[in-house]
Amino acid sequence: MRRNIVHIGAGELTYAIREIVEQAGRIEALGVDMSWENIGDPIQKGERIPDWIKDIVADLVRDDASYAYCPTRGEPATREFLATRVTARGGARIGPDDILFFNGLGDAVSKAMGFLRREARVIGPSPAYSTHSSAEGAHAGDHPITYTLDPDRAWQPDLEEIRQKVRYNPAIAGILLINPDNPTGVVYSRDTLEGVVKIAREFDLFVMCDEVYINITYNGAPAVHLSDVIGDVCGLSLKGISKEIPWPGSRCGWVEFYNQDTDPIFARFARSLVDAKMLEVCSTTLPQRAIPRIMGDPRYATHLVTRATEYKRRASEACAILGPVPGITVHEPQGAFYLTVLFDRDVITGSMSLPIADQRVQRVVEEFILHASAEPDFRFVYYLMGATGIVVVPLSSFCCQRHGFRITLLECDDERRRRMFETLARVIGEYQESAVS
Ligand SMILES: Cc1ncc(COP(=O)(O)O)c(C=O)c1O
Repeated sequence: MRRNIVHIGAGELTYAIREIVEQAGRIEALGVDMSWENIGDPIQKGERIPDWIKDIVADLVRDDASYAYCPTRGEPATREFLATRVTARGGARIGPDDILFFNGLGDAVSKAMGFLRREARVIGPSPAYSTHSSAEGAHAGDHPITYTLDPDRAWQPDLEEIRQKVRYNPAIAGILLINPDNPTGVVYSRDTLEGVVKIAREFDLFVMCDEVYINITYNGAPAVHLSDVIGDVCGLSLKGISKEIPWPGSRCGWVEFYNQDTDPIFARFARSLVDAKMLEVCSTTLPQRAIPRIMGDPRYATHLVTRATEYKRRASEACAILGPVPGITVHEPQGAFYLTVLFDRDVITGSMSLPIADQRVQRVVEEFILHASAEPDFRFVYYLMGATGIVVVPLSSFCCQRHGFRITLLECDDERRRRMFETLARVIGEYQESAVS
């Protein structure tokens, strides 16, 4: 090429959650029965959508208006419905024009990070859902700036660490939270959220909170929304229907902007996202039209409680099986539908392995390891895949220096799920015992 056409942030774009699928596909092609525990798609894992929700969608499918473009910000009646719900909580007051629809939160994250001024950085959690950390790193052309979710504090952040990092890095313009968190399942207390908002107020920052799992909390964890605590600080909340209806294939999510009127720079930033969406005309129409009908239905609250109760049951089951295994730490999630299994420091090494009966599978696993990240949890994940067919995501791929893996709680078949957790418990032990001394 006459000119280098590669974006300075290209190297930051990684998404192991999906990358691993291609590799697992090669193992599957050799006849291994796979357990796909890597992707947060409840439908792929067998969850059934209640008939009353399907009836609403079917009704909309028969309406020609569902096939049209919608206004750039999104369906007016839906934005009105959502804004009224936020204001009714008693915290931030917003109107329909404070809401902007996207084609899923993936789209929202890449635009929100991508349209920040290059030098303006957003500090985010480590481990982090990689869409956020990759998009932020790519926008800046540098590695993400992170604060630690501390496994010794059940994955809660240390507010003083955030404060010090913000204080000594003037490039930081915003603080990102994921609540409930992916991959750790931690849910932030009101105190933690208020503490983050206080730091943002002190240093004149915005707060960005991914709340895609906000209606999936359990184990007594409170679902405190950013809008409940934001006060007069500039903020944006990212919400969607992928996880809670669940309807990930709808590609539908939205951003709520809080306190645009208090800072012209923040208002201009929000406007730039509307302008960017305008170039694309709008986001998907049909799911937006379905939102008030589904969420406004009296059956919706029960639907949410039923789902959260089921995830709580599966989280407890996973922790009961994995908790006693030596060499790892698991904290029972309080929200979302993931579990992070953390290897204790230095327990896994580059000499460990699992027996794989099929030589062809063994060769493919070795090939993956040869080309993989040097992090030892990648090695474990490949051996796990080859030896058992269980597909999980290495923790080090979540912008994290600790080793472990993320597994989902989505398998609906009780027998299969229990067997999968039991297999994991067994092979984690075998893997550690395989160390060549
Ligand atoms: C924390 C978080 N935010 C956003 C998304 C993406 O959601 P969407 O399907 O709306 O793009 C995911 C998907 O797993 C997620 O875990």
